[in-house]
Amino acid sequence: MRFTFRNQPLGRIASVIAVLAVSANATLDGNPLATPDQQTLDALAIKISQDDNFTVLKAEAKAAYQTAHGLPISDEASSSIDAAIDELAFSSIQKAVNGDTYFPKVYWVDAGPRNWFGLDVPGGRYSYDNPDCIYRTIPIDSSLSYIITGYRHGSGPTDVTFSLISDPNSQNTVAYLSGSDLVVDSDGSYTITVNSSSGDNQTNHIQSTLLAKQLLIRNNLGNWATEKPDNLTVDLVDDNSSQSALTEAEIILAASWNLQESIVDYGVGALGIKTSINKVNTLSAPSQSSTLGTLTTQASSFGHFDLSDDEALVATVTQGDADYFVFPLTNPWIITTDPASQVSLNNKQAVANENGTYTFVISVEDPGVYNWLNTTGLHEGTIMVRWQGLPTTSSSSTSSTTSPAVDIQVVPLSELASVLPSETRYVTVEERESLLAQRLAAYAQRTEF
Ligand SMILES: *[C@@H]1O[C@H](CO)[C@@H](O)[C@H](O)[C@H]1NC(C)=O
Ligand SMILES: *[C@@H]1O[C@H](CO)[C@@H](O)[C@H](O)[C@H]1NC(C)=O
Ligand SMILES: *[C@@H]1O[C@H](CO)[C@@H](O)[C@H](O)[C@H]1NC(C)=O
Ligand SMILES: *[C@@H]1O[C@H](CO)[C@@H](O)[C@H](O)[C@H]1NC(C)=O
Ligand SMILES: *[C@@H]1O[C@H](CO)[C@@H](O)[C@H](O)[C@H]1NC(C)=O
Ligand SMILES: *[C@@H]1O[C@H](CO)[C@@H](O)[C@H](O)[C@H]1NC(C)=O
Ligand SMILES: *[C@@H]1O[C@H](CO)[C@@H](O)[C@H](O)[C@H]1NC(C)=O
Repeated sequence: MRFTFRNQPLGRIASVIAVLAVSANATLDGNPLATPDQQTLDALAIKISQDDNFTVLKAEAKAAYQTAHGLPISDEASSSIDAAIDELAFSSIQKAVNGDTYFPKVYWVDAGPRNWFGLDVPGGRYSYDNPDCIYRTIPIDSSLSYIITGYRHGSGPTDVTFSLISDPNSQNTVAYLSGSDLVVDSDGSYTITVNSSSGDNQTNHIQSTLLAKQLLIRNNLGNWATEKPDNLTVDLVDDNSSQSALTEAEIILAASWNLQESIVDYGVGALGIKTSINKVNTLSAPSQSSTLGTLTTQASSFGHFDLSDDEALVATVTQGDADYFVFPLTNPWIITTDPASQVSLNNKQAVANENGTYTFVISVEDPGVYNWLNTTGLHEGTIMVRWQGLPTTSSSSTSSTTSPAVDIQVVPLSELASVLPSETRYVTVEERESLLAQRLAAYAQRTEF
């Protein structure tokens, strides 16, 4: 394992990182996310974020997000925009610190703020972070060959995907390995090759092309208490001894470029074109595409809400052929507020109706419905429902399929009971507290070691 950087400009950081690594080393067991590489990259991202290199771009991002939201912008919405832009800027740095294709690492990104390894890691959430999903990145160059080694705990995450993408910001898919095609050995281990050869139809191979820049790995946890992300490490097959690591100046340049692209992809694209365009308190019809950060096997539905204290949104979701779906609430700037609160529910966490659909209630106050989604005090926010593990459009013609669907309406809280299905499960205050405590404890496992 490597705790030092070769280049002079990084010498200063290297010594800091080396000390941190040694002191935490003995306690790294058990948590697949708490790796020495994670610690190295988190420390470097923090260091870079502390210099004032992104002031102008952050101002541009804020203006673009405000434009995409549209006027008027309430005080409530305004109060969270600066923090959201800070997270967007940190996400751009996180993408850049693991951008060295000759010295690849596995890096967990797009998560909320946390304190671990003695590091105060800021949030790096952007563009509809999914509270179920552990997003990890590996930098890829198509002229090089990589071997990824994985280990699966138990039956593994509910949905796993490996997407080779052409750009860490627009995230367009170049090649793709789905969890159902991944071959895992009986002892839980697996290896995946990534290189430019066709691989002769070999299993666990991802063919890279000149467009490939990054492997984006999603591990979606359905049951947070029992499912663990896979262990993942990467090895470069080619010789890197004559290569020097990226300099800090190069990383800052890449981060600036990421932030610039993020303004367009997430501000103009995800918030503007995908979200704000919909009528308030409605959701777009689920649609499947491989652009703007979505998977080819994923369908998504976007919308934004604006509720008074005595109103609720009632949404009914049809899972269709998806093997996983999640209904998360996000703030006006398309990031989660407090994932440890019940701001999202997936098909393993929610209770189904008798006919297999799922009905959710979104409101500021807790109506005592099991499938309540907590707006965490917000009256305004955004929604991106997603279904994963769907047949791709080219492969779906053979069998008869049920399409994902969602249906949504605003009702006065006082009329909620008359709108909800008769089988709706309710919870007492004590049950709610206990459910919340379980969720919090399960969520905390991600950073415990
Ligand atoms: C998986 O990762 C954890 C945490 O780093 C480690 O304790 C465990 O030994 C790893 N398991 C395998 C089989 O690599
Ligand atoms: C590229 O991947 C294929 C398929 O797994 C493998 O057979 C080959 O050895 C790899 N090439 C290199 C240079 O690692
Ligand atoms: C790979 O699979 C395709 C489609 O099944 C087949 O046409 C082709 O002959 C296979 N190639 C090799 C080298 O096995
Ligand atoms: C690439 O560099 C890393 C870090 O210096 C080293 O651990 C690794 O063995 C090198 N890989 C190759 C194939 O040279
Ligand atoms: C980043 O900011 C630091 C501190 O203000 C400055 O010394 C450095 O030159 C900047 N780097 C780049 C690439 O702009
Ligand atoms: C709703 O979320 C807020 C913010 O996270 C939290 O303080 C509150 O306890 C939650 N309410 C319930 C009933 O879970
Ligand atoms: C399934 O049940 C829900 C709740 O009662 C209802 O809203 C929905 O229309 C039903 N869907 C079908 C396809 O019957």
